[in-house]
Amino acid sequence: MEDIKKIEQDALNEINLIKDTKSAEVFKNKYLGRKGLIASLFSGLAKLPQEEKKSFGYQVNQLKNLIEKSFKDKIGSLESSSSKNAQKFFDVTIPGKGIRIGTTHIISQVMDEFIDIFLSMGFVLAEGPEIETDYYNFEALNIPSHHPSKDMWSTFYLEDGKLLRTHTSPVQIRFMEKNKPPFAVIAPGKVFRKDAPDITHLPVFHQVEGLVVGEDITMSDLKGTLTIFLKKMFGKKRKVRFRPSYFPFTEPSAEVDVECFICNGKGCRSCKNTGWLEILGSGMVDPNVFSAVGYDAEKITGFAFGAGIERIAMLKYGISDIRMFFENDIRFLRQF
Ligand code: FA5
Repeated sequence: MEDIKKIEQDALNEINLIKDTKSAEVFKNKYLGRKGLIASLFSGLAKLPQEEKKSFGYQVNQLKNLIEKSFKDKIGSLESSSSKNAQKFFDVTIPGKGIRIGTTHIISQVMDEFIDIFLSMGFVLAEGPEIETDYYNFEALNIPSHHPSKDMWSTFYLEDGKLLRTHTSPVQIRFMEKNKPPFAVIAPGKVFRKDAPDITHLPVFHQVEGLVVGEDITMSDLKGTLTIFLKKMFGKKRKVRFRPSYFPFTEPSAEVDVECFICNGKGCRSCKNTGWLEILGSGMVDPNVFSAVGYDAEKITGFAFGAGIERIAMLKYGISDIRMFFENDIRFLRQF
């Protein structure tokens, strides 16, 4: 019984001295381990006379429970104070984890730059739906269903006869139906075509439509406005050309080409050996389009254009294959 008292006394004193995992381990082995003091008390039980066994066993059990509980409490209080210290402690020498910050996609950046140039010239923004009717995408733009030019914009049709718009030009009609001239608008957005992807083509790409309508708007307004835009977008040195073309909704029409950035106009794979990359279509609004929206085509004139944003981004940043914009290779996108 004296042994029990002494062990209890020592254990309670030593518990107070535990300050880390090492001293806790030593204590645990000494008192509670397989070869510890409690275990040796239990093994001494066998040698005791029968009448003492019960009370001795009871005392040892009491001692064991006391030491176990005190030890557990001590460990608990050590853990909570060390986690408080950890919160206070900030190790400035640990290398930082580095947070990767995303960037605006290159196509959005070029789109924003494009829009800013036109807003600075007094244009306002308009928009229209990506799912269009045949009327807005073709008919009202002077493209009747029998007309072969409809083939130029082959698209994806929905079951209800609607279609994914092939260009942003339907926004011209939607805007004119609701507004009276004079105005100058741009309409950015996504367009869809049954074009197989190649170096310069995608089946889904972005355009910005422009439309200026009023009295006495002429072809020289078109050329002047687009020239200012081209110089701001590509710099004064890059060669550009206006090339006569055909669109059912403009008359006369012109396409704008920019000198190929890869071969500097000599002709290569990216420009299909022409030395030029076409970036936009434009022209004077056809009187039939004005009639479709109820304008007086005798009095009102205007010009329009539709530019391909991916092509502009290719020229601006020297990208030789348009498909790279949407392959989502982080090594490519991170550069912009
Ligand atoms: C049109 O879409 C006309 N709506 C443009 C227009 C508007 C003309 C107003 C006159 C007045 P076009 O099909 O040429 O035209 O396309 C315009 C531009 O979109 C092209 O110059 C080119 O830069 C871009 N583009 C055309 N097809 C693709 C394609 N598959 N992938 C990427 N860009 C394309």
